[in-house]
Amino acid sequence: MITIKVFEDYNEMSAYAAEIVKEVINSIKKPVIGLATGSSPIGLYKNLIEMNKSNQVDFSQVTSVNLDEYIGLSGDHPQSYRYFMNQNLFDHININKANTFIPNGIADDLGQECKDYDQKLQDLGYADIQILGIGSNGHIGFNEPDTKLNANTHVTGLTTATIEANARFFNSSDEVPQQAISLGLGGIMKSKKIVLIANGTNKAKACKSFVDEYIDPQIPASFLKLHPNVVVCLDKEAASLL
Ligand code: GLP
Repeated sequence: MITIKVFEDYNEMSAYAAEIVKEVINSIKKPVIGLATGSSPIGLYKNLIEMNKSNQVDFSQVTSVNLDEYIGLSGDHPQSYRYFMNQNLFDHININKANTFIPNGIADDLGQECKDYDQKLQDLGYADIQILGIGSNGHIGFNEPDTKLNANTHVTGLTTATIEANARFFNSSDEVPQQAISLGLGGIMKSKKIVLIANGTNKAKACKSFVDEYIDPQIPASFLKLHPNVVVCLDKEAASLL
């Protein structure tokens, strides 16, 4: 079931989403949190950092699992998702980095890396809460629109739309990796709770499509309608077509 919350602006949206994450972490002994990258969750992470500094939330018992990673970028590459997570969250909170998991985009055997990542998720019992952004084409993680979708963690090619959308983080679109490792729909849907955040007019169409239209592999986020506990946090612009 999807609950939609619309906020005046990005800051209000981020603060609310952070409260949800805080409550989950504070109510579970060994919480597992599923994390996302991209610009959408940066405000949420800033709130969590502040909450950690003011002792409202403790990350010492938290394990994190990220959704995805670019293939070919090592963790010290500034555009890798490992680097992003260190910069925007892990370096500022009391989490044990040994308990932070992100697919390895430079693994020698990428197929084995995907299998091992799924095994890790299963061993952890999947995320207690999964944070998601959404691509302007309706992707979640790097599950891109297609005629079929993967349940398991997999290597995927990125669509031109995604490469262009993510080119803003690189010097040019030529530098954006063309492939990534991503959790599949199964790994995402097995999370106990999901919080999806989206802001800005460029997300309005994707938000309308996944909320209002059929379940469709061309709109990967539409599968979230099958999940029992999804909170969608939108700013006014992202909600403008609903
Ligand atoms: C990226 C990531 C997604 C993210 C999405 C939106 O490519 N793989 O996890 O949610 O695109 O990114 P942003 O929040 O920067 O708009």
